[in-house]
Amino acid sequence: MSRTPFVAGNWKMHTNAEECVALCRAVRERVEGIEGVEAGVCPPFPFLQAAKAALKGSSVLLGAQNAHWEAQGAFTGEVSPSMLRGLADYAIIGHSERRQYFCETDETANKRLKAVLSHGLLPIFCLGETRDEREANRTEEILERQLRRGLDVVPWTPACVIAYEPVWAIGTGLAATSEQANEAIGFIRRLVGELVGAEIAQATRIQYGGSVKADNAAELFAQPEIDGALVGGASLDADAFAAIVRAAAG
Ligand code: PGA
Repeated sequence: MSRTPFVAGNWKMHTNAEECVALCRAVRERVEGIEGVEAGVCPPFPFLQAAKAALKGSSVLLGAQNAHWEAQGAFTGEVSPSMLRGLADYAIIGHSERRQYFCETDETANKRLKAVLSHGLLPIFCLGETRDEREANRTEEILERQLRRGLDVVPWTPACVIAYEPVWAIGTGLAATSEQANEAIGFIRRLVGELVGAEIAQATRIQYGGSVKADNAAELFAQPEIDGALVGGASLDADAFAAIVRAAAG
């Protein structure tokens, strides 16, 4: 089954209002006309509306960086999936920075996954092992736990996206080798097959994330299991991001 690769930029807590709009314009201009790949950007919450306007009429998709599980309520500082409806196409769920710094667990990621899907958004569900876990040969055990708990009774569809992001590769400049990434993603796909059915798993895009740059993208994307990337640092540079999108187009 051929899956259209998807390259998404995770801007994290970067850009101001003006920079966000300028980066959206630069990205749309540079990825315009690149076929056989989908591209998206995930700016900070306050700029989503401006980003949507700046991307109007382009094929660049828009993602939020998180979403709460309740539709509304007394949750100071949170953003509900119903607030994102019609604004964003995707929401990043369970990113390792949320897990590391903001007490995100497999259980809260699971609640958020169910919530975004019930509000018409698509998840980019992130998972990955730490360096200690990899060195202790526990990568598959960790991925399995994150997947089983994360996807528990989630109405997963072929349009949902997973990002395999080894924590040790994020923001370190030390990407996983293409073989390591391919192997882990193959493992994830097999397990997703057990959990939601082989056909849906075959159709699910599974990105690699962690220090993806213009110069290592092509090698990663040459692997059969890797369906694009979730890009942090390099997505803040429109030329570098467009080069990664081009590499994913083949
Ligand atoms: P990085 O971040 O590309 O800067 O390593 C990836 C991510 O956190 O999604």
